[in-house]
Amino acid sequence: MNDTPPTRADARRALLGASRIAVLSGAGVSAASGVPTFRGPDGLWRNHRAQDLATPDAYRRDPLLVWEWYQMRFHIIAEVEPNAAHVALAELETRTDDFTLVTQNVDGLHERAGSQNLYELHGNLTKSRCEACGYLESLEPDFPLPPHCSRCGARARPNVVWFGEMLPQDAFQAGIDAFGRAEVALIIGTSAVVEPAASLGRLAAREGAFVIEINPEQTPLTPFATVSLRADAVTGMKQLLGDNVL
Ligand code: OAD
Repeated sequence: MNDTPPTRADARRALLGASRIAVLSGAGVSAASGVPTFRGPDGLWRNHRAQDLATPDAYRRDPLLVWEWYQMRFHIIAEVEPNAAHVALAELETRTDDFTLVTQNVDGLHERAGSQNLYELHGNLTKSRCEACGYLESLEPDFPLPPHCSRCGARARPNVVWFGEMLPQDAFQAGIDAFGRAEVALIIGTSAVVEPAASLGRLAAREGAFVIEINPEQTPLTPFATVSLRADAVTGMKQLLGDNVL
């Protein structure tokens, strides 16, 4: 019997040999692009309390304050580019039969990097959503605060999921399906403390997938990982895929 723990080389082999891959990404993937994460020393939640900005109550209380915060983040995102980790994930998709990327990020960078089978669990802050008719529109660089729907004129809100709100059910269901059938699950750049997103990693582990985590720090999903790479997202993807992909 061979009881040596699986290595980075095993993770690389598993990933490159898999025909069914599911990925869960978080803010750490966009860190190298210059998008702040939420938790940690420079995180967005250092200066703001989530319940003051990212809840339906906060928006009811002070819609302009909430919009100003999203507009600030919108401006950051407008000026950054996808990084090598986003590109590597898009590239991995092109060589994998069944590939699903579920992201908690609202920055749109996976899409800009070319990811196709992509589910944005927490929405996308580059769009607004009409509070009356639900119409989605891309925000323009100088959008007014608050923006109004160009179809019906009602006030529009950020197209993101706030704490206490339901996830888009089609996206979460796609995640459950993908993580339930994956041979390899890759958990990259997420603190894995927000549910139900993190439950996808546990689901894959329970179903016997080879679970790879890329994160400079331990997370609640680390015990479920077959192999944990203590690396930033770009370095970790390079370790797994080699320089040829990046
Ligand atoms: P967090 O800010 O909670 O966690 C970022 C994770 O990325 C941490 O575990 C860091 O260790 C790791 N990290 C930092 N730099 C990295 C790098 N260069 N490469 C790889 N990893 C790095 O962000 P999320 O896990 O995405 O939800 O947060 C989940 C949700 O909580 C967000 O979607 C947002 C937030 O509140 C809502 O707003 C609903």
